[in-house]
Order: sequence, then C-alpha cells, then structure tokens
Amino acid sequence: MAEAAIQTAPRTDIDPREFDGPAFQKNPFDLYKRLRDHHPVYHDRFHNRWILSRYWDIDTAFQDNGSFDRAQYRPGGPYKFGTNHVFGPNILEYGNSNEHRRLRNIVAGQFVGQKLDDFIPMIHQICEEVVDRLKGSDTFELVTQFSSQVPIRVISNMLGLPREDEDTFVGWYHALIAGLGFGGEHLARGVAARNEMWAYLDPIIDARTGKDGEDLLSRICNAELAGSRMTKEEVKGFVALLLAAGGDTTDKAISNMWYHLMYTRPDQLDAVIADPDLWQNVFTEMMRYDAVVHTQLRYTTREVVMHDQVIPERAGVILYLGSGNRDERVFRNPDTFDIQRDDLHMGRENRSGRYKDGKPGHLGFGIGQHFCMGYAMARQESQIACMKLLQLYGRPAPRDATHPGITSPNIDSGGFRSPSELWLRKA
Ligand code: HEM
Repeated sequence: MAEAAIQTAPRTDIDPREFDGPAFQKNPFDLYKRLRDHHPVYHDRFHNRWILSRYWDIDTAFQDNGSFDRAQYRPGGPYKFGTNHVFGPNILEYGNSNEHRRLRNIVAGQFVGQKLDDFIPMIHQICEEVVDRLKGSDTFELVTQFSSQVPIRVISNMLGLPREDEDTFVGWYHALIAGLGFGGEHLARGVAARNEMWAYLDPIIDARTGKDGEDLLSRICNAELAGSRMTKEEVKGFVALLLAAGGDTTDKAISNMWYHLMYTRPDQLDAVIADPDLWQNVFTEMMRYDAVVHTQLRYTTREVVMHDQVIPERAGVILYLGSGNRDERVFRNPDTFDIQRDDLHMGRENRSGRYKDGKPGHLGFGIGQHFCMGYAMARQESQIACMKLLQLYGRPAPRDATHPGITSPNIDSGGFRSPSELWLRKA
C-alpha cells in the first residue's frame, strides 16, 4: 500500500515508560501505530533496547541471520548454557549457531506430516474427554476448564507419559510457565518444578533410549541425524521447552479464537458453523490480529542501518510482531478482525514467509531459522479443539455482555497474550 494513502497517527514523542503501564498491557496497538508511523526504528534508552515495528523491517530481521542473532551468548563462550533458564539448556539459547541447526534438524520432523497425523486420533480423544466434563453445565469458564486443559494433556500423551501422571504434569507446567514470566522467587519455583520433572523423566528416558517406540519421547531420544542424537540433558531441556512452546501458546491461541468469535466478531460465528473449514481462517486471522506472541528478541551481530538510524553491534532489538501484523502498509483495515479477508495468506505457514498466492502471511510464528516447529500442530490442534467444543457442547454464547478483553501477561500466564478468563453459556 502506498505510504501516501496511509492515515498516520498524530506525531508525538514516545515516553518509554508507556511500555510498562497497564494501558499498554491492555491495548498496545495505539502505541504500535505511533511507532510504525513516526519511529520505525526506535531507540528505547530507558529499557536499553531498540524496537522494530513495521512488517517488512521485522521480516528483514528474521531473515538476515548475518546481522541479527537470537542468542546473546556465544557457544563456546564463558556462559554456561541452561544456568539462567527455567527450561535448562535448550535450542532457544543456541541462537543461529550450527548447534541450533543440529538440534533443530534432529527434532523438527516430529511435528509435521505423517508423524503429526499419527497423533490426530489421540487429540480428538483428549478434546472429547475435556468437553465431556463440561456437558452437564449451562455455563463454564473456557480458559481454566477447556483451553488450558487440552494442549498440555496432548503433549503429555504425545510424549507417552502414563495417564495417571497427567495431573502432576499439569502442575509442573503451571510452575514452569509462572517461572518464565517473572524472575526471583518465580524463577526459583519454576526451576524447582523443572528439576522435579527431570528426576521423574530420568528413568523413563533411560528405558526408552535405544528401543523402538512410537511415542514422541522415544522418537526424540532415538532420532538420529548424520550419526548425531540429542544428549540426555538436551532431551530433558527440549521436553521442558515443549511444555511452554507447545502447551501455553496453543492454550492461549484457543482462548483468543473464542474471544474474537464471542466479542470482536460474533457475526462471523455463523459462517464458521456453516463451514467448519473456516476454523483455519479463524486461526490465521487470530494470529495476525492479536497474536499470542507479540515480541521476539534479537541481538545485532554487526552495525545495522535502517531508516537512516544506526543500530550498534550487540544491541538488543525487540521485534514487535503484534505491530507488524497491524501494519497498514501491508494489510487493509488492519484493525478489523475479518476471517474472510483477502489480503492475508490464510493457509498453512512456512519458514520462508513467502507464499504462492503472493499474499503476506502473519508474523505470529516468526520466520526463518527459528520459525516455529509446532506451526502445523498448533493449527491442527486448535482447530480440532474448537470444532469439538462446538459439536459436543452445542453453540456457546458469552455469559457476560462485556469483557475486559485480551491482555498481555500477568504472573499466572507466563509470557503470552490472552484473556484471563472467558465465561461462556449454552446459547
Ligand atoms: C499458537 C501456538 C504457537 C505460537 C504462537 C508459537 C510461536 C512461536 C514463535 C513466534 C517462535 C519463533 C521464535 C523466534 O523466532 O525466536 C516459535 C518457535 C518455536 N516453537 Fe512455537 N508457537 C506455537 C506453538 C508451538 C507448538 C505446538 C510447538 C511444539 C509442539 C512449538 C515449538 C516451538 C519450538 C521448539 C520453537 C523453537 C524453534 C527454533 O528455535 O528453531 N510451538 N514459536
């Protein structure tokens, strides 16, 4: 879209403390627009970081591995991996290195294609079990009683952990997520939960290593690429990461989809009921309009010049995905939630961010070397969960006429954006 055609926000300076206030937690979009229009490369001296907010600038940072790295620490440097992270050593810490490529290549194939299809009947079953518990009630709270129940039980089942331990696993998951969002005692509690989980996993990993098994944990323990396997520590770090990367995100995606169909565009629910394939569009538009993950961090590996601004080497750069997804230079009426929009690639995402239909994709799974490994699984699982709820519970409606809306993280919700609760009733 031509720059001249864009209605810009009034020119105002930005006070970096705006990022810390409750108004920004609730509605970051006005500040995003001021950033995009007037400060596309913003130096936030207060928080010692730089900010990119336009779609194509974020795309560039994701694609340009030579200038932007995810790791702050260099493999082989003095930093001991996993010491400062609730998950322990895991691929999130390995940046753009060969170590990251090695680990990613070992496991990435486990979440797509036939490997993913093998788990689909189990996903149906878990969703049915969770909806079953809601059946007698005329009202229920979607976040605690449905969305936060499904993905973690799915992951635990995929890993092939005993079903009787599922609730213990859910407990570790909540402690890990809380440990992610905040440091101090929360980090300590998260690390304690991780250690308990690791002790629990130790004998299970030993028993499954070197044996054929169709469960995900066996596959991860035994997956080999060019003679290389994950070490036991890496397997445990990866399992811990999966809880947040695959559990908390999908959990919140399901809540956000229902929030938008209940409060933002209730008129579009009828179209989805008439054509369940449209759940695909609900998922995609949710990932654009108010994605679960609004930010990703990168570090410059050299001096970078963008929009006549010089970002120095080793600077922390926040990519505001939530802002790029609302960039009016790319999407028409970006502040409208519309599952029928024709200027967004609606199908499955890919790592390149380039699609045959020529349309831009949402930025919610990232792009490039660290593109989400669970993109297909998150889409499939969210769609099945939403369809099952509709099929088995009947058509829900919001219990309350108004809702406080989606907000950025608080202590219980780790790092992602979602409604803290969403009460529904039988329509
Ligand atoms: C709606 C749900 C999800 C969202 C919004 C999401 C979002 C993201 C984003 C933005 C990244 C990129 C990080 C970066 O560029 O630094 C990422 C990476 C990742 N995601 Fe997801 N994710 C979701 C679901 C899943 C699921 C279901 C799994 C696994 C079962 C998963 C596993 C991962 C892993 C392992 C990475 C790291 C990839 C790498 O560094 O190479 N995610 N995700």
